[in-house]
Amino acid sequence: MDNSQKILISGGAGFIGSSLALRLIELGHSVRVLDNLSVQIHGKDAEKSSPLYLLIKDKVEFIKGDVTNRSDWEKAIEGIDVIVHLAAETGTGQSMYRIEKYSHVNSDGTALMYDVLVNRPNSVRKVILASSRAVYGEGKYEHPDLGIVYPKSRNPKDMEAGIFDLIGDDRKILKPLPTDEDSKISPASVYAVTKFNQEQLTETVCDSIGIDYVILRYQNVYGAGQSMKNPYTGILSVFSTQIISGKKINVFEDGLPSRDFVEVSDVVEATVKSIFSEKANRSIINVGTGKPTTVVDVAEALMNAFGKRTELEISGDFRIGDIRYNVADLTKMKQLLDFEPKIDFEEGIKKYTDWAVRQQLGENLYEQSLREMNEKGLFRKS
Ligand SMILES: NC(=O)c1ccc[n+]([C@@H]2O[C@H](COP(=O)([O-])OP(=O)(O)OC[C@H]3O[C@@H](n4cnc5c(N)ncnc54)[C@H](O)[C@@H]3O)[C@@H](O)[C@H]2O)c1
Repeated sequence: MDNSQKILISGGAGFIGSSLALRLIELGHSVRVLDNLSVQIHGKDAEKSSPLYLLIKDKVEFIKGDVTNRSDWEKAIEGIDVIVHLAAETGTGQSMYRIEKYSHVNSDGTALMYDVLVNRPNSVRKVILASSRAVYGEGKYEHPDLGIVYPKSRNPKDMEAGIFDLIGDDRKILKPLPTDEDSKISPASVYAVTKFNQEQLTETVCDSIGIDYVILRYQNVYGAGQSMKNPYTGILSVFSTQIISGKKINVFEDGLPSRDFVEVSDVVEATVKSIFSEKANRSIINVGTGKPTTVVDVAEALMNAFGKRTELEISGDFRIGDIRYNVADLTKMKQLLDFEPKIDFEEGIKKYTDWAVRQQLGENLYEQSLREMNEKGLFRKS
């Protein structure tokens, strides 16, 4: 029996999507990609020079199109079995001042996908949605007296005074816990609002039309292929660009914010499992490693792997909308996807830097991105 599937990946020319496309093809499936080759990710003249696009272009059926355009979706879903919906604007900080753009691409683009699925005959039987841990905001904490709490975003006044940890109303320090999928939803950025909106559309519409879905809440994904051009996402590419060009790294807060970094090949495997697992249908699943790494540790690991040091300035600066700590509870991922990540941080960073040194850096837009946030009152110098 031929089990090969016809899979549409929106945003399939991006960091995660291009790796996923190649893996699905390796497994014998056919892949169509809908992607607008956004300049922020792929640079100008993407069709000639975007490394990610060039990697997939002869292997997939490529539709250059936009998720906010109805006829592009109509073309894209023809004959498709499964949609993996990845296309999105992804900069948390940028989302705080490009609100209409983020809402249009992420929320309206997803609404349009479902509008087309509901109103046009098609063979789609399942949707995989790339959501984000951002929907939890600060996530799950323990108060010394009250037990489990879900604190709101930190107060900029406290942060200006150098208090970066999460504190209760009684000013007691809270202890971070692994955040599970039943944790309170508490978006701290417009990006997170749009991701939660995508989730709600997915649950509501897929249930109403009787197609399966899996919602994956990716943690911080890193690895070869992540955009070195986009200064709005990913501390790995920002720090790497600074190290390679011998510039000082501004480490925000006290250097101790942490993230659950998961290597892209693990994210791809988890996503592939979600496509084919019956058990996972109609679930929301965290995808991460369950291990926290601090920002300072990221900078040190990168400098070790590049074999090159640069000055680290632990500045006390901070961005409104950034969260403090993050680590995922992975019980559901293990149970429903039968999956455990294979790549530890040290190995992943080595793979990443081996790739990053071979990339053309282009214009360094990092300072510009901070200036933009500063102008909008969203970046505070200490
Ligand atoms: N990378 C992470 O750490 C991370 C973490 C959590 C969730 N996610 C989610 O995973 C998905 C993929 O992320 P990524 O890191 O691969 O991002 P990416 O920016 O590398 O890829 C996104 C792709 O979508 C395309 N795109 C953007 N706007 C589009 C539009 N209007 N129409 C069509 N295509 C468009 C871009 O050209 C790009 O190729 C996103 O939905 C993101 O929110 C990523």
